[in-house]
Amino acid sequence: MIKAEKIAELTAAIRKWKEEGKSIGFVPTMGFLHEGHLSLIKKAKSENDAVVVSIFVNPLQFGPNEDFEAYPRSMERDLAVSEDAGADLVFAPDAGEMYKGKPAAAITVTNRVDVLCGKSRPGHFDGVAAVLTKLFHLTQPDRAYFGMKDAQQVAVVKGLVDEFYFPLEIVPVETVRESDGLAKSSRNVYLTEQERAEAPHLQKALQKAAEMAEAGEWDAAKLENQIKDYLNTHTTAEIDYAEVLSYPELAPPAEESKEIILAAAIKFSKARLIDNITLKLKL
Ligand code: PAF
Repeated sequence: MIKAEKIAELTAAIRKWKEEGKSIGFVPTMGFLHEGHLSLIKKAKSENDAVVVSIFVNPLQFGPNEDFEAYPRSMERDLAVSEDAGADLVFAPDAGEMYKGKPAAAITVTNRVDVLCGKSRPGHFDGVAAVLTKLFHLTQPDRAYFGMKDAQQVAVVKGLVDEFYFPLEIVPVETVRESDGLAKSSRNVYLTEQERAEAPHLQKALQKAAEMAEAGEWDAAKLENQIKDYLNTHTTAEIDYAEVLSYPELAPPAEESKEIILAAAIKFSKARLIDNITLKLKL
């Protein structure tokens, strides 16, 4: 496995693979890899000739009061587990390599950002779109793999790719969970023992509301209240949001919606957790 810290090293490998007619799968990450990331790498390996993993904690997608400095990092371990999962190249640049001085242009995401994490974290998806635009151009993948825990990110990135005609396919991959249902996340290490015990209730709250929806309850406000009530009863966390929207449009659900998302974010003392359930509707 190649470790590339410089753009020139990455693009040399990509050029060679393209000349050899190889397909490229790309898994963008911010490191501190867990089984969720490894499932993306394994899927990419099963569908492509060469797999590139990027490890870059992107400063542009963190707000001023967020956890950029404290974001967990574990490069040596990440390299080893990426290789085991089938990565052919890990691109791990520093911030100076990705952002060279004053930007000449910026990306503004204009759709699907006034809800969920986009509403709570203004500018977050502009930062995600900017770094992915660079990474997609450098990596030239046939397919890029994203976990559905960040379902809004999947929808926003699909919008970016469609808008600018990036010649690649976005492949959403199912969330990987602990045995008690908690979604795997790099931020789970921040949880205290008590918070860790409460955290699986995030998924349970969404499941209860999803059961109501499947039983015919289509009032988004009622479903959102059910999620909030459950979280307030079963956790000490602060609720950031609980929303029910159409997916992937992320608009208020309408009669003709084919799929909905039930999503919530909660804040514990040091960790903000997100999770969701998407439901296909039987029309
Ligand atoms: O999901 C993430 O880890 C990040 O948002 C991504 C896609 C790697 C962009 O920095």
